Amino acid sequence: MIANIAVVSPAEESASVVARDRIVCFVNDDLSAAALRKGLEGSNLSIRRGTIRNAIKMLETDTEISALVTDISGIDDPFTELERLAGVCPPDVRVALIGESREITFYRELMEIGLTEYLPRPLTRDMVLDQLRPKLLGDVAPSPDRGGHVVSICGAQGGAGATSIAINLALQIAETTKAKVALLDLHLQGGETAVMLGVQPGPGLRIALENPMRADTLFLERAAIDVNERVCLISADEELDAQLDITEAGVRHVLGLLRQRFNYIVVDVPVPFPPSIHPVITLSRHVLVLLEAEVTGLRNAHALRTAVTNIAGKDRVFTLLNRADRAGGLPRATMVKALGAEPDMVIPDLGKGMTQAVNLGIPALKHVSGLRRHLAPIVREITGVGADRKGMLRRLLGL
Ligand SMILES: Nc1ncnc2c1ncn2[C@@H]1O[C@H](COP(=O)(O)OP(=O)(O)OP(=O)(O)O)[C@@H](O)[C@H]1O
Ligand SMILES: [Mg+2]
Repeated sequence: MIANIAVVSPAEESASVVARDRIVCFVNDDLSAAALRKGLEGSNLSIRRGTIRNAIKMLETDTEISALVTDISGIDDPFTELERLAGVCPPDVRVALIGESREITFYRELMEIGLTEYLPRPLTRDMVLDQLRPKLLGDVAPSPDRGGHVVSICGAQGGAGATSIAINLALQIAETTKAKVALLDLHLQGGETAVMLGVQPGPGLRIALENPMRADTLFLERAAIDVNERVCLISADEELDAQLDITEAGVRHVLGLLRQRFNYIVVDVPVPFPPSIHPVITLSRHVLVLLEAEVTGLRNAHALRTAVTNIAGKDRVFTLLNRADRAGGLPRATMVKALGAEPDMVIPDLGKGMTQAVNLGIPALKHVSGLRRHLAPIVREITGVGADRKGMLRRLLGL
């Protein structure tokens, strides 16, 4: 991707460039370590002793790298470890493996799931120079179809719980998978994610969505506010009377940047969605349509499901009944009849603790016992635990 670099101070630029160029290698034999050192000379290189397991451990907390080279020698089931690696490795990191196998079928399987290169060990300097260096240091544009998994949350009625679910889902996905998660709030005016998390929105989201040419390489560094070590919030707080001019190209660009850097992007989507944010729906693997057991929710949920299906296809849409069995709500049987099916996901009314959490500016997960248990099946659905392994790997490596 060609980034448009706006005015940046040299210090800022070099800090970012250093982090982005970093190559980390985990190898166990001295010959391979020496070959990597010579073959990748001149790059921002760090060579450590270890295997793919050490690489996974590192990526759980440190993902500021551009490429990873790691040894899978002696690992009984490399695909299980790769699955774990894919879960924590940002999609824009190039991953090369070293191992004992010289089987062509093994090589092909690895290439199919999106790895950059595989080389049998021990490595030599020439192997690194000829086969690894161009792929790790070359200017390969990332494929636009590749990247993190987008989950859209849309409320069929005001106050259905969309923002609460988006925030807590993002936190729980990160907690369960150790992946990097971005929470993107597209309510640029009056959005509530930042307030609910007790943080200030970062700058730049509006400009980036209006004019992608002005979203430079440092846009994310500035706009993404750390919620914790794995979750970032990208939101805005524009004046209520501001005239926004969000463009489809801007939305596509911002989502593209986020999908390169984060494994999951959870989006709090305004409803009804203007045409400019259709790309979010098109790129979503899951669109959760939230409603409460009320006549208004039911009516709008139908319309919203149809709108999403028209944009993204039927298999992406999930109906989430929130605050189920709340006093005064429609009985479940009436809901099922009107929806034409059981809701795909259900979260019961969790009482006043949910609203207290909002007022305290802390995530409800930390305040309401029971929320985690009710979110768990939704996290499983989204992260694909139990799905077939190759499909899962492909999804996680963002193919
Ligand atoms: N399962 C639940 N049990 C109890 N209270 C809940 C539940 N889900 C959400 N709430 C509460 O409902 C209120 C509205 O939630 P939230 O702001 O997340 O909805 P929303 O759909 O984002 O609203 P808006 O339409 O304003 O964007 C909040 O006080 C929240 O704490
Ligand atoms: Mg909201």
